[in-house]
Amino acid sequence: MTQPTTSPNAVWQEVLVNRADRERMNGHRGAILWFTGLSGSGKSTMIHALEKHLHDAGRHTYALDGDNVRHGLCGDLGFSNQDRVENIRRIGEVAKLMLDAGLIVLCGFISPFAADRQRVRNLVAPGDFLEIHCECSLEICEQRDVKGLYRKARAGLIPEFTGISSPYEAPENPELRLDTGNESVEACVGRVLALLGGD
Ligand code: ADX
Repeated sequence: MTQPTTSPNAVWQEVLVNRADRERMNGHRGAILWFTGLSGSGKSTMIHALEKHLHDAGRHTYALDGDNVRHGLCGDLGFSNQDRVENIRRIGEVAKLMLDAGLIVLCGFISPFAADRQRVRNLVAPGDFLEIHCECSLEICEQRDVKGLYRKARAGLIPEFTGISSPYEAPENPELRLDTGNESVEACVGRVLALLGGD
């Protein structure tokens, strides 16, 4: 499952401790829970609420949040289509490493392009990547406008804003759809936990 590399002399090193060993020690399987949806659709709320719940239940987790990652790992990227592709590519590789570390990785990214989400899915084994659509209409996201970004985007102050001047491709067959525009956070958390297997 290694990707093409531009460093042909980098040799793959065998490890002495693998994912199965770490999962055995953790007492649970790792997974990538990938939340996609418009800005303001509740992705961050979901990943942090879930992480708190899972952590309190003794699970090993890590939350990767769009805004936070753009302060470090992806701080050099903007919001052109090309930069968004690279953003999701890097995050996919990081999530894959964290999966190998045995963690339940909670990813919250707009990830507007179906092909990019599919590419992350293809990085790992079937069942390791669970796509969860935070399905919230543009109208509701814009009404909430938690960060005030929609107002700025409408005023022409933010170019290429998802849903307004940049596209969003909703998943066709996600593992789960959450009605984050109407359902409570607790109800949505419960539905994700059920997907994970009643954790
Ligand atoms: S993605 O499209 O590359 O997946 P990502 O999830 O990392 O986006 O970042 C989205 C966050 O960046 C939004 O929640 C919002 O706070 C902020 N943001 C700033 N500019 C934009 C923009 N042009 N489009 C969408 N989100 C933006």
